[in-house]
Order: sequence, then C-alpha cells, then structure tokens
Amino acid sequence: MTEAFATRRLPADAPGLAAAAAILSRGGLVAFPTETVYGLGGDARHDAAVARIFAAKGRPAFNPLIAHVADADDAERIARFDDRARRLAATFWPGPLTLVLPLRRGSDISPLVTAGLDSIALRVPAAPVAQELLAAFGGPVAAPSANPSGRVSPTRAEHVIAGLDGRIDAVIDGGACAVGVESTIVSLLGPAAVLRPGGVPDEAVADCVGPLSAPAPGDPHAPRAPGQLASHYAPEAPLRLEAVTADAGEVWIGFGPFGRDPALNLSPSGDPVEAAARLFHILRLADAAGRPVAVAPVPDRGLGRAINDRLRRAAAPRDP
Ligand code: TXA
Ligand code: MG
Repeated sequence: MTEAFATRRLPADAPGLAAAAAILSRGGLVAFPTETVYGLGGDARHDAAVARIFAAKGRPAFNPLIAHVADADDAERIARFDDRARRLAATFWPGPLTLVLPLRRGSDISPLVTAGLDSIALRVPAAPVAQELLAAFGGPVAAPSANPSGRVSPTRAEHVIAGLDGRIDAVIDGGACAVGVESTIVSLLGPAAVLRPGGVPDEAVADCVGPLSAPAPGDPHAPRAPGQLASHYAPEAPLRLEAVTADAGEVWIGFGPFGRDPALNLSPSGDPVEAAARLFHILRLADAAGRPVAVAPVPDRGLGRAINDRLRRAAAPRDP
C-alpha cells in the first residue's frame, strides 16, 4: 500500500529540474512533461523505483514500460539497433516515436521495466523539459503516462495532480503538451509493425522503413499492454462515437463543423494536429459535466488514426 504524502509541484526551471533529478537519483517518482503526454518517471535501473511506478498507477505488473533516454547513442547502449532502427531514430528522434528492439545482454535496465521480456521499448522525447531532466539525471528514465491505470492520459500538470496527488513525489509543471497523444510504438523485432498508433503518423513510419505489418496477435513479443487493451483511456461517462448530431442530454465533443460548444470542439478548423493536442483535456472537460458524451467523427488519416484509436478505447465496454 502506498502511503499518502504531499506531491511537490516543481517549476520547469533550473532549480526545479535539479530537485526533480535529485528525487530520481534517490529512487523517487517525478511526473514530467513530454511532447506527447506527462510521463511518470523513475530510474529505469532501480528495481524499487520501477516497482513504485506500478504501485502508484495501479498498473498490472506484466505490462512493460517505455525507457526514456537522452539520445540515440544512449539508446544503442541499451538495445540492439539494425538499419531500420537507425533510420527511424535519425528521422524521428527526438520525437513521439517509441522503438521496440532486442534488449542488449548485460544492460543495467531493471527487469521490471521490460516485464522480463528480452525486448525493450525506447524513446527519446523532444520536449525541452524532458530533455533537460534526462540531462540533469544522467540515466534512463522509465515512464508510463502519469495517470491511474486505465484512465485518460494527462496533458497538463493539473491532470497529473488530479489522478496521482499524494502517490508520487513531484510533478514538474511544464504547461500543456504540444502533441497530446502518446508516442507511436513501432516493433522492429520482426517485420516493422505499429503496436500503437500515436504522434508520428503510420504513413510517415512507412515512408521511412517500407510497408508495415500488422502486429501478430499470438506474437510473444506483443504483450497484453494497457495501450492494447480494448478498454483504456476511459473517462467516467459513456461515450458515443461518430456523432453527427447530439441528443438533448449529451455533451457533444465537436470536430470541424460538427459540435455546438467551441470550448468542446477538438479543432474548429478540422485540423487533426490541433485535435490531438486538445483531445485528452477536452475528454476531461466533457467528463466533468457528468452526462453521456457524444463525439463528432474525426477523419481516420494521419494523427486522426491515433485520435480514433484512443476514442474507441475510451468508448469500449468497461467490464471484461
Ligand atoms: O508518449 C508516450 O509513449 C508516453 C510518454 C510518457 O512517453 N508513454 C506511454 O507509456 O504512453 P505507457 O506505459 O502508457 O505505454 C507504453 C506502451 C504499453 O502499451 C506497453 O505495453 C508497450 O508500450 N511496451 C513497452 N515495452 C514493450 C515491449 N517490450 N514490447 C511491446 N510493447 C511494449
Ligand atoms: Mg498509458
């Protein structure tokens, strides 16, 4: 059981980052902004720190975490890269892409990070605050999204506090995340496959490494991951998708011309990049109304695929 204690809010300046790095160095937990969503960071080499991440989130321990590193050289010390991995890293890092690669033997990553797999998910985040934290800490940081397991990912420090106050040591307040949906996860353990659509459109990944395979459902390397569960990113309210009108009792999340409340429109101009950046915040605002939620259709192209993936999971039946 985790004891409740005060979660510090740290400013995203040099003293705040130094305090955050010191917390990580003694095995504590710090939530920090990346360009996708806020991550719940702990030292990826420290078993107890990683165990605390799972406890704070209430996350099933068999779900592996992403390790965040400062650059591709640090990533190559942890995993084995092939030509495709180097091309993707050169094109999209730092940025919203996670690569699943063979773990190097003898790496000092805690086996809790990989859930005992011989592969590892690695990402080099682009947000300056994340980069500065990794530089100040000087080691790999394991970080799932900083929300209770199964809930909507946080894109602002206040979302982190709403879900995890008293369960983590600190949160660095770096404002709203620019991308707003999680990283695209590409497995390179076999033919390149997108395990989770995200901030880098699938089309851009395919442009870099050629046609993508579907992840094999029985693939031992495709673990049952929260991001792969049907119900995930779930608000409290029931969600109805592809709604071109809303019923009287419903809150309507709009997109482009569909919707009635501009504050709840993902993008009045119909821009999927803007819609992704606003998605989780607007889901939270709509949820707070305590009424059923209808969501306007979002075209399934580019970032629209990641948006629709998260909306489908948010709308999925909750009970297995
Ligand atoms: O944008 C993001 O990716 C954010 C920020 C904080 O970086 N992180 C994030 O982490 O979304 P999380 O833990 O919520 O999702 C990580 C996903 C999970 O679906 C997990 O199963 C998958 O990565 N994953 C991790 N290691 C894996 C592995 N070895 N093989 C396959 N999937 C893996
Ligand atoms: Mg998550």
